Amino acid sequence: MGSKITGFGAYLPPQRLTNSRLEQLVETNDEWIVQRTGIRERRIAAGEGTASLAVKAARAALADAGKEPGELDLIIAATVTPDCFTPSLACMVQAELGAGRAAAFDISAACSGFVYALDIADSFLAAGKFQTVLILGAETLSRIIDYSDRSTCILFGDGAGAAVVEASAENGVPATYLWADGTQGGVLRAQALPLGEDPLGVRAPQSIASRAVAMAGGEVLRFSLSEAPRAMDEVLRRAGITIDEIDWIVPHQANKRIISGIIRRYHLPEEKVYVNIDRFGNTSSATIPICLAEMRENGLLQKGQRLLLVGFGGGLTAAAAIIEI
Ligand code: UT7
Repeated sequence: MGSKITGFGAYLPPQRLTNSRLEQLVETNDEWIVQRTGIRERRIAAGEGTASLAVKAARAALADAGKEPGELDLIIAATVTPDCFTPSLACMVQAELGAGRAAAFDISAACSGFVYALDIADSFLAAGKFQTVLILGAETLSRIIDYSDRSTCILFGDGAGAAVVEASAENGVPATYLWADGTQGGVLRAQALPLGEDPLGVRAPQSIASRAVAMAGGEVLRFSLSEAPRAMDEVLRRAGITIDEIDWIVPHQANKRIISGIIRRYHLPEEKVYVNIDRFGNTSSATIPICLAEMRENGLLQKGQRLLLVGFGGGLTAAAAIIEI
């Protein structure tokens, strides 16, 4: 028994944050941002939470798979920007969809989160525990970005992607690889709660600046340039195939320079690597499923194709999966 992805969906909030708008907020310019990151604009969820984005992506994925919410056995949501600590994002989506049979929980693996969720779903399905699983990567990163910090505010955006994974006689997820190096966690950090130093006293409210994403960009860049290819090598080795047998590479959209590094490292034709970072920026766990949903919508996914997904980022984490359409 294996598993197969049978539906893809995405939702991007309509409001665009362009490089020229960022020029008004911080000391930066369009040329620097495009050259150093490949990003031209990103989307911002004004007045909408992560659950709202996630539900719209989930509905699109269910429609693509031809499934009803009541058929879901499990919902796994990958996010670093849930609306609440509890209920989980997955439980909020379950309620909104009316997926009354489903178990639901969140995972936190930042930009590798969707690939982690896929591996967990595949493992449950391969074990015969469930039939139909919804996996999500959904973020409202704009809520934890300091828009006076030019090293981070230019990179991140909001969005959600989803996929339906079903038990299958075919092995649609032939190999996966998950990895983390928590010792490097401090180079990309967003604080959740202050320490309870004065639990019964009066605490000053936490300012947004102290909760915002703080990143040593150069170190994260170095990690990504070495660990993304290492995860790719490892998942190819596990599948027993070479990169030439892959139809599409779908990398986490963190920086166009990282994607170009992958293209150079494997001597890939550019048209085999899916890129939409110019339009949506880095939406952390949502980038890969948003790419997949766009590819589906644009007719780029054909039956029998093999895709290599690779995520890397906060944690620090890295993860790769090979999927067959
Ligand atoms: O999804 C999780 C994974 N995330 C990533 O993989 C992100 C990885 N990191 C990056 O994408 C890059 O490190 C950045 C895009 C964040 C920065 O690019 P960089 O090539 O590492 O630039 P840098 O931080 O070394 O800065 C180079 C210069 C500095 O000026 P000086 O010291 O050379 O005078 C910065 O102060 O560019 C300056 N700079 C900017 N200039 C204009 C930094 N940010 C900006 C900006 N606009 N927004």
